[in-house]
Amino acid sequence: MNKVKISQISQDNYCSITRAIFKFLPKTKLPFCLYRMNPSTGSFKPATTEGKTIISSEKLAIYDDCEKGLIFIKNSSISDCKPYFAANLETVISDISDSISDEDLAPIIVEGLKESSNKIFKDSIKNNFGSFHAVLTATGELVHSNPDIIWHMLPLLDKSHSLTNKSLSNGIIGAGVCLHGREGRPSLDSFLESLIALFLCDIGMCCLPDFVLGKEFSLSVDEQKRIRTHPVNSVEVLSLTQSMTKTSLRAILEHHERLDGSGYPRGVTSDQISWLGKLCGAVDSFVAMTMERPGKTSMTTVNALKTLYKESTLYDSNIIYALEKVTYREEC
Ligand SMILES: [Fe+2]
Repeated sequence: MNKVKISQISQDNYCSITRAIFKFLPKTKLPFCLYRMNPSTGSFKPATTEGKTIISSEKLAIYDDCEKGLIFIKNSSISDCKPYFAANLETVISDISDSISDEDLAPIIVEGLKESSNKIFKDSIKNNFGSFHAVLTATGELVHSNPDIIWHMLPLLDKSHSLTNKSLSNGIIGAGVCLHGREGRPSLDSFLESLIALFLCDIGMCCLPDFVLGKEFSLSVDEQKRIRTHPVNSVEVLSLTQSMTKTSLRAILEHHERLDGSGYPRGVTSDQISWLGKLCGAVDSFVAMTMERPGKTSMTTVNALKTLYKESTLYDSNIIYALEKVTYREEC
């Protein structure tokens, strides 16, 4: 076996670290080791010591060697990098996602999206929308070019009830339906506008008091009235960002409309509801049924799908079939 082949085999076990990635890694007590590749032999030697501070001279040399593509971590250390990678997901996707396996990358993406969603659902949409939009766009581009990564993301979704977990489940399950549940792949632009509508259709819930949230199935008349304002609230809040397309905003407004006109806020019927509005509605209902809530047993995937199929006057059966193709495989 010649040296080139040995080098290629060795690099398969390592992941390249760029300057931008090194910049956000902690420099004190780094809990894993960085490696420097010898470009003439393809062999790797430790460039740092696990758990030790990286001193200034080492830091400068590592920055230089990052530029030359000579700094790596072992693939077995990627799970230790998860907190740093998740907090800087956009950079990880642009710089090194090609050298991370789908199995290792999926938990980083799910955690990164969760952190980013948390900031707009729990903190301030005004202050955090720009970074959320950038992270979601980078993720959408990656998932659109590599749809199989969805299969690694679906089992990682957290079913405990919160607006953030629901947003994440809506987005990832809905992305699966767009990419795996239908004939042909949507264009990237169309996929991205679907993704943001799926993620943010319930952002208007943030305008509601906490006591109303988590009670979608046992609401008083007054609480029902308040909760029914959330599609309009979502559109109003998101319109202010000036980053949403009309297609996304329309779908968000329509995600509680139903085919027979029994939905809200306008009570429109099937042919007046966009395909994306129907998709957001079906996925949102599926996720609401299967989430765990205090004092309420969550439905299994099979029972939630059966319920949606039975309610054929409310939901588009082709969309439920596409949803089944994605979620039923998840449970297998
Ligand atoms: Fe909703």
